[in-house]
Amino acid sequence: MNEYKIPNHVGIIMDGNGRWATKRGLKRSAGHSAGYKTLKKLAVHILNKGVKYLSVYAFSTENFKRDTEEVNYLMNLFVSKFKEEKDFFMKKNIKVVFSGLKEPLRSDVWESMQEISKMTKDNTGGTFNILLNYGGQSEIVEAAKKIVKDVIDKKLNINELNTENFNKYLFQDLPPIDFMIRTSGEVRISNFMLYQVAYAEMYFPKVYFPDFNEKEFDIALDVYNKRDRRFGAIKK
Ligand code: FPP
Repeated sequence: MNEYKIPNHVGIIMDGNGRWATKRGLKRSAGHSAGYKTLKKLAVHILNKGVKYLSVYAFSTENFKRDTEEVNYLMNLFVSKFKEEKDFFMKKNIKVVFSGLKEPLRSDVWESMQEISKMTKDNTGGTFNILLNYGGQSEIVEAAKKIVKDVIDKKLNINELNTENFNKYLFQDLPPIDFMIRTSGEVRISNFMLYQVAYAEMYFPKVYFPDFNEKEFDIALDVYNKRDRRFGAIKK
């Protein structure tokens, strides 16, 4: 029998918080709050399964176009959770890192991100990469700018740049995504880790993110295990 495969890097587009709340006659913000509760349990479950890297899409650069009330709710949720949950992530030995741009984030949001990443930087029980004010295209453009600078400063010989060491120029130097999940039934990538999903297996369950619990993730893992990953090679 084949060995049960655990992906090294899982990416989740946490979609459907708004619809989850609307369906219950609640404000969209209640969906984001429920989404965080799900995320907290899910992150521990996923990293306990042996997944080494978990990347989640918390806020895209484009999400700033939403109503001020919703943007403010999310920003306040980020600040309060990054402050409150530091001890939780320390206890669980999880390293929290962020991918995204600094501008135009509020300074309290940026500071709370710095604090939790600094505190958890030596944890070894898995890396939890939170995409906040993130866009996949701008990640690649920013990488190009850093590369040009390193070439000008003679820190990089352009002939030595390859698809492996290119990762060092991205927001975080992480391995490729093996398994990408987008909840809520939408079938789009929406600017999510464009460089890292090159060979990812993709899965689009119908459930809204707040309902994507540990059991749903285990179902997803079973689906992943039935996939035949070939990375462009011929089927043997
Ligand atoms: C997309 O669903 C979800 C978001 C834009 C926010 C996701 C954020 C969380 C789950 C909270 C994370 C919290 C921390 C502290 C990391 P949507 O609102 O677009 O849903 P809809 O498509 O149904 O409207």
